[in-house]
Amino acid sequence: MMLFVDIDRDWAAPLLAQRLSGLGRPLHATAHSLERALGELGERCRQVEVLSPFITSPVGPDELEQLPALRLICTRSTGFDHIDLAAVHARGICVCNVPVYGDNTVAEHTFALILSLSRRLRRTYDRVGHDELRVSDLEGFDLRGKTLGIIGTGHIGLRVAQIARGFSMRVVAYDPYEQPLLADVVGFSYLGFDSVLGEADIVTLHCPYRQETHHLLDTSAFAAMKRGALLINTARGGLVDTSALVDALHSGRIGGAGLDVLEHESMILDEDHARAGLMDMESMRATVLNHHLLSRDNVVFTPHVGFNSREANERIFLTTAESIGAFYAGTPINRVFPPERPIGRDPVGAAGQGER
Ligand code: NAI
Repeated sequence: MMLFVDIDRDWAAPLLAQRLSGLGRPLHATAHSLERALGELGERCRQVEVLSPFITSPVGPDELEQLPALRLICTRSTGFDHIDLAAVHARGICVCNVPVYGDNTVAEHTFALILSLSRRLRRTYDRVGHDELRVSDLEGFDLRGKTLGIIGTGHIGLRVAQIARGFSMRVVAYDPYEQPLLADVVGFSYLGFDSVLGEADIVTLHCPYRQETHHLLDTSAFAAMKRGALLINTARGGLVDTSALVDALHSGRIGGAGLDVLEHESMILDEDHARAGLMDMESMRATVLNHHLLSRDNVVFTPHVGFNSREANERIFLTTAESIGAFYAGTPINRVFPPERPIGRDPVGAAGQGER
């Protein structure tokens, strides 16, 4: 049996059934988490050969014990840190992920945030219907001719650069691993980190969150930015020191922020967590700071939905179906465990640490 848990789109189960019908194996798809699905399946768990969870269903020794026939786990995410690899290794189970599904999706969302700020959409929307609507208060600025500073030119950063060139923007970028050929083709230049901050009218973050990138944008980084520049963050909240960002907005050091991610967002966005009183002092402080941040009309916020387009979600399911088909054909693809190739400069280790 192939067991799909955490299925929250109506169209997903029919799509999977159609794509996997040729395998001649029963398919069970449920909106419930793995834990709940195992309880519901009872003895039928013993027939599960393939499991496909999302990051919301941890897979560890307890779950694996109930799945004695399991051969393949296909997580519908890039990250796989919700899967206990030691437990999986002991059982010889293969793990596949979805390595790429939405670089253009997140890049387009980045521009949704940029344009919301450049055309003052929040303020404009709030003022519509008010008696004293003054168009002069709502004046925005053109992107054409402005400089975009990209921090991290991986999959998403490169798409952002391409879109920016389409807007006739000048693009500068910082990445410790430069790709000069791609920079030439797309039409941007690499500079040092501080130079990117100093030259950009808009700085956008597209690098991974790690110990060494924690608070990459802190007080001194904001001081290095052009006065009145904008900050966009669709990568991870921990890249930005929220307190320094609030100060920089308050002092006018920066002119606005477009955020799809926040520090401590899992605690803040998860109401159950908050209601259960599970916030520590640090998260409470972050909640208060984020409240200050989000109440400003030069800040636009979306709740970590940069990846969430119909096309990106479809790609996730189609890639998962392909991985299962390839596994049964004896030619696995998208395998992250056991690793297909030596771990390179970034991908597998980074993705395993919690990328969506
Ligand atoms: P990627 O791994 O393709 O690219 C990351 C780039 O950052 C690499 O070129 C790497 O060399 C560079 N980098 C590493 N350390 C750096 C540093 N200190 N300064 C500047 N650059 C550095 O990753 P991808 O797919 O482009 O994703 C970028 C980020 O977007 C992810 O790390 C993730 O946090 C975030 N993301 C957000 C989503 C959302 O829904 N908002 C969805 C998917 C990813």
